[in-house]
Amino acid sequence: IESYLNGRCIYLVGMMGSGKTTVGNVLSNALGYSFADSDSLVEEDVGISVAEIFKVYGEDFFREKETEALRKLSLMHQFVISTGGGVVTRTINWKHMNKGISVWLDVPLEALVKRISAVGTRSRPLLHHDSTDAYSKTVVRLSTLLEERGEAYAKAEVRVSCQKLAAKLGTKDVCNVTP
Ligand code: S3P
Repeated sequence: IESYLNGRCIYLVGMMGSGKTTVGNVLSNALGYSFADSDSLVEEDVGISVAEIFKVYGEDFFREKETEALRKLSLMHQFVISTGGGVVTRTINWKHMNKGISVWLDVPLEALVKRISAVGTRSRPLLHHDSTDAYSKTVVRLSTLLEERGEAYAKAEVRVSCQKLAAKLGTKDVCNVTP
């Protein structure tokens, strides 16, 4: 694996709740790589949380900052990078990420919903709403985003298909890796 990687960074892409941060921490430790999270870099840069950035400056501003974070990361070596769920939607981000290896954590909708419902949507501005029908709105929103972005995620070099996750959540996750 070391010769395949050759010091290149690994970019984890996938929907909110697909486990990019969790997997990124484990993988970076296993490889002896550093770990970075593009959302955290944007938050450090702007000085407020992602949710606040969306509220105060809007999504386009966030996307610009996210691209800038990826540009800086693309100059690094031996990093595992957890990206925000929307990075795949901008062509310029692929230019940066293709300096390394992109890995799509392909997690089924049911599992995403379960995980996100467990932690709440407050920190996720694309999902957050105060209404009483929050759960069904989260499901609809997540499923729309997944459909819109499916093709973009599929551009990743490696796909980790976790189709059995929905049934197995809470027990051992079963994943297939397709390079
Ligand atoms: C987003 C996902 C979030 C964050 C922002 C937008 C998206 O990151 O970048 O709220 O467009 O899917 P996570 O995927 O880490 O939740």
